[in-house]
Amino acid sequence: MTVDVLVTGADGQLGWELQRKAKARKITARALNRTDLDIADKDAVLDAVTTTKPRVLINAAAYTAVDKAESEPDEAFAINHDGPAHLANACRQTGIPLIHVSTDYVFDGTKNGPYCEDDSLAPLGVYGASKLAGENAIRNSLPQHIILRTAWVYGAHGKNFVKTMLRLAETQSTLRVVNDQHGCPTFAADLADATLDIAQRITSETLPIEGYGTFHCTGSGRTTWSGLAEKIFEFAIPDLDKRPAVEGIATAEYPTPARRPANSILDCGKLTHTYGITLRPWQDALANMLQLSLTESANDAKGRQ
Ligand SMILES: NC(=O)c1ccc[n+]([C@@H]2O[C@H](COP(=O)([O-])OP(=O)(O)OC[C@H]3O[C@@H](n4cnc5c(N)ncnc54)[C@H](OP(=O)(O)O)[C@@H]3O)[C@@H](O)[C@H]2O)c1
Repeated sequence: MTVDVLVTGADGQLGWELQRKAKARKITARALNRTDLDIADKDAVLDAVTTTKPRVLINAAAYTAVDKAESEPDEAFAINHDGPAHLANACRQTGIPLIHVSTDYVFDGTKNGPYCEDDSLAPLGVYGASKLAGENAIRNSLPQHIILRTAWVYGAHGKNFVKTMLRLAETQSTLRVVNDQHGCPTFAADLADATLDIAQRITSETLPIEGYGTFHCTGSGRTTWSGLAEKIFEFAIPDLDKRPAVEGIATAEYPTPARRPANSILDCGKLTHTYGITLRPWQDALANMLQLSLTESANDAKGRQ
C-alpha cells in the first residue's frame, strides 16, 4: 500500500484533526493510534513505515501528561525521546521527511518577549526535557525534518483546558484561574491545517534547505489562562445556565508537580516568512471551536430523541 501521509498518535487532539482535515482535502492518509503502533517500539515503527510507504510521516503521538511526567520520567522519555528517534530512523531508511510536533515547554519562560526558534532552550520539567530530547534526536539523524513547536492546544476531541472550564462551569460559580502565565491558545484544527499545508508543500516540490528545520506555530495573539477562561465563558454564554466569575490568581497559589514557563509566547514569523502560514487570531479560532462543539452536541441530542 502507498499513502500520501502516515499519522501516528491518531486518537489525540491533533491526530484526530489531522484525519478529519486529510479526508476533507482528499489526501490519502493512514492514521495509526497507540494500539496500532507504539512509537517507542523501534521494530514496529520501521515495519509500519516500510509497509505503508508514505510520502511523509507526521508524528502526533506524545506523552503529554505534564505533571505526571515528573514521577514517570522513564515513560515520558521512552515516548517523547525514543519514539521520535525511531521515527526519524525509519524516515531516514526509507527516504521520506518527518513532520514532528514539539512544545513551548522547551523554554524556561524567562525571556522578555516572544520566543524565536533559536532562543536558548532550558525546560523547567521532565515533559519539556523529554520533548527537547526528541527534537534533538530528530535533528541529529534526519536532515529532512520539520519540527513544529506549538502551545496551549485545544480541540473538539480529547481533553483540554477549554473543555475543563466548560465542565467546571456547570457546578461552580467562581473559578480561580492562573493569570501570570502568558501564551497563545492553538486550535488543533488550525494546527492540523498548517501541518497538512506543509506536508503537501514538501511532497509536491523539492524543498530548499531553509524549508526544513524548526518552526513555531501557534494561534495569533496572546493571553493568560484566566484571559482564555473569560473568553470561553463570553462565547459560550448562550449555552451556559449561568456565567461563572473568573478570579485571577498567581501561579504560586496553584502549585503543581511540574513548573511551567511564565512566558510561553512563540514568535511564529519564520513560519509565515517561509511557508506563508499564519494561524488566525486565537479568539476567532476559539469562537469557531465552541460553535462546532455546540452544533455537534445539539446534533447528538437530536440523534438521541
Ligand atoms: N496539548 C497541548 O497543550 C500541547 C502544547 C504544546 C505542544 N503539544 C504537542 O502537540 C502534539 C499533539 O498534542 P495533543 O494535544 O494532540 O496530545 P494528546 O491529545 O495527548 O495526544 C497524544 C496521543 O499520543 C498517543 N500516544 C501516547 N504514547 C504513545 C505511544 N507510545 N505510541 C503511539 N501513540 C502514543 C496518546 O495515546 P493515549 O491517550 O492512549 O496515551 C494520544 O492519543 C504533541 O507532540 C504535544 O507534545 C501539545
